[in-house]
Amino acid sequence: MFRIPFLDIPPLHGASGRVVLPGSKSISNRVLLLAGLCAGETRVHDLLDSDDTAVMLQALRTLGCGVRQDGRVWCIQGLGGTLAVHEAALFLGNAGTAMRPLAAALAVLSTQQGGRFDLSGVPRMHERPIGDLVDALRPLGCQIEDLGQPGYPPLRISGMPGGQLQLDAPIRVRGDVSSQFLTALLLALPLAAAQRDVTIDVVGELISKPYIDITLNLLARFGVVVQRRGYEQFVIPRGSRYGTPGDIHVEGDASSASYFIALGAIAAQGGAPVHVQGVGSDSIQGDIRFIDAARAMGADIRSGPNWLEVHRGQWPLRAITLDANAIPDAAMTLAVMALYADGPTRITHIASWRVKETDRIAAMACELRKLGATVTEGADFIEVTPPQRWHHASIHTYDDHRMAMCLSLAAFNPIAPQPGQATVRIQDPACVGKTFPDYFETLFDVAGADTAEVPVIAVDGPSASGKGTLASELAKALGYHLLDSGALYRAAALAAQADGVSLDDGAGVARVSRLLDLRFDGDKVFLRGQDVSDTLRNEVTGRMASQVSVHPAVREALHGLQLSFRRVPGLVADGRDMGTVVFPDAALKVFLVASAEQRAQRRHKQLISKGFSASISALRADLEARDERDKNRASAPLKPAEDALLLDNSNLGIDESVQQVLQWWAQRRPF
Ligand code: DC
Repeated sequence: MFRIPFLDIPPLHGASGRVVLPGSKSISNRVLLLAGLCAGETRVHDLLDSDDTAVMLQALRTLGCGVRQDGRVWCIQGLGGTLAVHEAALFLGNAGTAMRPLAAALAVLSTQQGGRFDLSGVPRMHERPIGDLVDALRPLGCQIEDLGQPGYPPLRISGMPGGQLQLDAPIRVRGDVSSQFLTALLLALPLAAAQRDVTIDVVGELISKPYIDITLNLLARFGVVVQRRGYEQFVIPRGSRYGTPGDIHVEGDASSASYFIALGAIAAQGGAPVHVQGVGSDSIQGDIRFIDAARAMGADIRSGPNWLEVHRGQWPLRAITLDANAIPDAAMTLAVMALYADGPTRITHIASWRVKETDRIAAMACELRKLGATVTEGADFIEVTPPQRWHHASIHTYDDHRMAMCLSLAAFNPIAPQPGQATVRIQDPACVGKTFPDYFETLFDVAGADTAEVPVIAVDGPSASGKGTLASELAKALGYHLLDSGALYRAAALAAQADGVSLDDGAGVARVSRLLDLRFDGDKVFLRGQDVSDTLRNEVTGRMASQVSVHPAVREALHGLQLSFRRVPGLVADGRDMGTVVFPDAALKVFLVASAEQRAQRRHKQLISKGFSASISALRADLEARDERDKNRASAPLKPAEDALLLDNSNLGIDESVQQVLQWWAQRRPF
């Protein structure tokens, strides 16, 4: 998704269908680091494609690992425990799953082999604690300098060649702030266990234990079997050595699954379930236990190897009190399910929320209140009482992917026990790129709305007025679908021609139009499987389209196809009768007016840039003649809808036109 400022989600009514999950973030980044540390090549399948994995891949490249893509498989050539690069600056974005383990691994390696590494991230990364990890590593002889505030990144890690790690005493690490510190040590210390057992003692009660299970499971896949006593002591046996498993598959992300489990529990009514592909009952990820919590709230969940199927069960959902320490990330989804419950839901033992991508307790409380919920928060809990009355809400997302994904589920307010009609605006929706770049597309594929509630912006105007460009820029800016209705008439004309149907034969062209096999894929258009993007746009096809578009039967034949573009979250429709016939209820109708002179000059520029010669005066005469024909034709004449706003863009650049329309649009939004 483009980095658009906001995405408005209209009220949603139901959901069903199949969702394929992206790979797990926790597994992806652990596997990448292990592949980078071990000897030989590891082929990683189903890796998550996201911001956090991108920074890890980049870090591995910088450290001299081989990183290449073979189709959808990432092939990592590991270092085999020996540093290839001894000095580097690594930028790790906001990826805790990269910062902590890389810091530990580089500390262990550079203490033994020499090196100097600077690790930094985005400003929020520099507010996320790492002191407990540094405190665990320093007694081993690791030199770690705080380059900013003590206890937080950025860090400088250095060492001299031939150094020794002090491993006589057990390594002590605190486990009560983040389990990632222990994970980091568990991933790094096999690099120092050739000659001796390495023992790690956890100080304080370990939180998020299931993440440690993922770490241990993956270590075993790379040949290192750690012995443990409860979650208090971990021993990496002497002689441990990383070996590549060769091929390794990344499971779907169980935390990401939580949004679709919640979706099924809230909105899969009337038989058809939400089917989730990528994780199942056999998952190694702790967040799969979210299933139990969702069931406790009333979800009806079936599962098998690598799949889940969710129906709405009890409705309203059952309010619960839950210790969510073991599922901190997925538990955020419970806070939003709470909006649909029969009383207050209390989620406890979640102090770690305060040190994640943002202070998630504060953030969640603030945003849920905007929707009308009553929220109480404490140092390590949150309690949510559903709204009596829903409010339209513009949700701030704090550069936190999970805030954006969770809060999108508030758009189902029309089916809440106390129904609402609220539009939910998600600010900075692209922040989901951290773990689930296609989240909104995936959600909208399975979510249903009342068509009448899906907003439409209709754009029309005379030939060469720039309506196509304006419509496409608006669609991009709002994250809406685009209907270039002219393209449908153009395609119909091409198809008729290919079938030997006369363009004057209305019934014949209509028949072809009803079976139009047309597919839009980004900027490309495929007719009957063939790429017709260029042919579609040329002047000759334009004239053919004009010829077929006068037949009422053809207009009627394309009507249904045009309506089908009206899908969540919204549509920008460009063309002749968008605001009058096809979408008379469009929420905003814009009619471009620009002088024939201006339009002729624009077209002239266009033609010249494509290497065609043309005269401005001839173009102008042609446009004027076409305007006249278009205005006076019997079927769908060129005229603004009565409630259209006229935009004279004779002297406006495209950006200015887009800004003007966005301003009009903003005035019609409830925020
Ligand atoms: O917008 P365009 O140049 O691609 O349109 C091609 C022709 O189709 C043009 O003559 C107008 C006609 N048309 C129409 O009659 N109704 C529409 N909704 C869109 C285009």
